[in-house]
Amino acid sequence: MTERTFVMVKPDGVQRGLVGEIVGRLEDRGLKMVGGKLMQIDRDLAEEHYGEHEDKPFFDDLVGFITSGPVMAMVWEGQDAVQQVRTMMGETDPAESAPGTIRGDFGLDLGRNVIHGSDTEPGSNEREIDLFFDEAELIHYERVD
Ligand code: CMP
Repeated sequence: MTERTFVMVKPDGVQRGLVGEIVGRLEDRGLKMVGGKLMQIDRDLAEEHYGEHEDKPFFDDLVGFITSGPVMAMVWEGQDAVQQVRTMMGETDPAESAPGTIRGDFGLDLGRNVIHGSDTEPGSNEREIDLFFDEAELIHYERVD
């Protein structure tokens, strides 16, 4: 099924110059970027995006970190894009991520894990895309391989 997923290079990834590496990996995999912007997330957006973690002990650290510097917010489209990106990212904890995955190769710890991608819960991808992008910011075009 062709679908879209929300992907964000977190502040650690932007500051370490990993945007190009990550975009390249997703492109090489055959996924298509249909939206993207470098942005600074404010507290309201961070709290809404991570709403499901509101009661977790690490919530304040998470919001503090994601608002600490610019993120590269993107929408990627392709066959089973949500699961494909999840597989390419690796586990949430870089220490448990296999080499060859983005977090396995670049992640430092649970917080500084370089990248966020929508989870496979139905509707999560569209909810996150709507939170960060207007429909008009998403571009329709053909990818040529
Ligand atoms: P992400 O996929 O962006 O979704 C929620 C984030 O919470 C997760 O990546 C981690 O970066 C972060 N996270 C999860 N568990 C912890 C933890 N125990 N301490 C700090 N951050 C965490």
